[in-house]
Amino acid sequence: MKGLLLAGGHGTRLRPLTYTGNKHMLPIANKPMILYGLEYLKNAGIKEVGIILGPIKEGVVETLGDGSSFGLKITYIDQPDPKGLAHAVQISEDFIKEEPFVMYLGDNLLRQGVVDFVKRFEINKLNCVVGVCPVSEPSHFGIAELDDKGRIMKLVEKPKEPKSNLALIGVYVFDSTIFDAARKIKPSWRNELEITDAIQMLVYEGKKVEVEHVSSWWKDTGKPEDLLEANQLILGDMQTSIQGSLSNETKLTGSLQIGAGSETIGEVNIRGPATIGSNCIIGPDVYIGPYTAIGDNCKIKNAEIENSIVMKECNIESGQRITDSLIGNYSVVSNGYGRLPRGYKLILGERSFAQL
Ligand code: TTP
Repeated sequence: MKGLLLAGGHGTRLRPLTYTGNKHMLPIANKPMILYGLEYLKNAGIKEVGIILGPIKEGVVETLGDGSSFGLKITYIDQPDPKGLAHAVQISEDFIKEEPFVMYLGDNLLRQGVVDFVKRFEINKLNCVVGVCPVSEPSHFGIAELDDKGRIMKLVEKPKEPKSNLALIGVYVFDSTIFDAARKIKPSWRNELEITDAIQMLVYEGKKVEVEHVSSWWKDTGKPEDLLEANQLILGDMQTSIQGSLSNETKLTGSLQIGAGSETIGEVNIRGPATIGSNCIIGPDVYIGPYTAIGDNCKIKNAEIENSIVMKECNIESGQRITDSLIGNYSVVSNGYGRLPRGYKLILGERSFAQL
């Protein structure tokens, strides 16, 4: 069994964060999103993984290399023009060859991992397994319609009038029959080769396709609010690990991870779950609230931060509470109090968002 981890696409909904780097390198609980998928594949016994890379590659190859430091063999597959998930399958045929494979969309987080999917595929000797999960807004997803025995009747991409609330999550197991199916389909109205159409082709042709119902949480991190929610879900499971040092005046409740070389100075109030990377200086006069992740080499003083992701090397001295925020690498948030003329001073890149 091989792995195919998709890390292409444009990531338009996460701009401006995805102007300068690959979406799958954005940190969730201080770990690049792509590493979660890679670990799930490895935990299912997979040793060889193909990674689809699109127009924005920054950071992926530098972090993952040839995979040897993760105990994997990684091959990069170029998809300069992201023409859809079935297109990603098509261009991977030379890498996959005749083997079955798990295809995992790199912007998905799935607490249970992929082992159950692989087991179903192998035990029932299937051609394809698709993961499904009930959602409240089915018209935003690819949807599976099942019959009363739980077999797939129809797959529909973002239906206007959904007949089912079962979304296809970003995890699939295929055998090599998917390559033939992907060759037979035509681009959809949004000009993409849809994986739903290719799987539908398998169903038409009488191939053995089954669904695996997700038994725990699943999160697709396409939008900024999804990143914060994924951060909450991962931090919610986190155990305390203190490698840095906490000042005598630090009050800590809930779980906290703080990396080597980090310290809190003076009065600091931390309500976990929260994670602070390595070599950070936190304090004095800092409140870090639940579900906050602070990247490596950050300096934070006279500030309150809650339910937010602060990426690496940020400098924050806001004097005010920052909440529900995503702060990109190397950002500075400072307090202009007392300076004249008064006003908010902003240097925001294209498609930034500020609420004052
Ligand atoms: P999407 O979220 O559908 O697309 P995107 O990542 O480009 O984001 P946006 O809609 O905000 O522009 O992609 C789902 C996953 O599949 C994601 O991990 C990227 C990956 N992908 C590819 O690798 N190749 C592709 O051709 C497409 C469409 C997606």
